[in-house]
Amino acid sequence: MLNARQRQYLEAIGVTLWERRAAPVATPYPPDTASGSPGTQAFPGEGSDWSVLEEAVRGCTKCGLHATRTQTVFGVGSHTARWMFVGEAPGADEDAKGEPFVGRAGQLLNAMLFAIGLKREEVYIANVLKCRPPGNRDPQPGEVESCEPYLLRQIELIRPRLIVALGRHAAHSLLKTELPLARLRGQQLDYHGTPLVVTYHPAYLLRSPTDKRKAWEDLCRARRVVDGA
Ligand code: URA
Repeated sequence: MLNARQRQYLEAIGVTLWERRAAPVATPYPPDTASGSPGTQAFPGEGSDWSVLEEAVRGCTKCGLHATRTQTVFGVGSHTARWMFVGEAPGADEDAKGEPFVGRAGQLLNAMLFAIGLKREEVYIANVLKCRPPGNRDPQPGEVESCEPYLLRQIELIRPRLIVALGRHAAHSLLKTELPLARLRGQQLDYHGTPLVVTYHPAYLLRSPTDKRKAWEDLCRARRVVDGA
């Protein structure tokens, strides 16, 4: 159960609460620590921000996907990651396990990370949607809109140097464009102030392995952005 300050914090970052009460909460966030005694602060450490956000996602009923999910799929990895990978939405394996990219596409993503010298636990992996669309259908605009504050807050907390959008649907949802992937690849783009590069979705690469070379080029470009080269 969230306390009043936690509720106000979530509303301030655009998360509509499933347990919203009629009366507005008057306490400001961040709390005025100048006058407050130690221990009165609602969020003494970064861990609290994360747990409030995770709880909000876990209880979310903002779109219809809550009715068909097994569980929410929040995200996984380092809270201080320099790289953030964003996919489209959980599939059946992720819905069952509660973790993004754990199926065959996830294994390929792990291999792609390894190839550019990264471990899964040192990056952050999330999806545009935190719940599985039934039958793995494409995310709908209303679902993306409902879920976006959660992803934005994850980015705000992590402050990655780079976001890698995995696949056409993630790129379209994040960038609010319908340009083909071929036009989006190779460009340095921006998502709310964070540099973003687009590459192929690992599930697509499983079907079209000849494009793995192009994905490798994208990752090398991404590496140069992260390294500031
Ligand atoms: N595809 C995605 O876009 N995300 C996952 O978490 C798994 C598969």
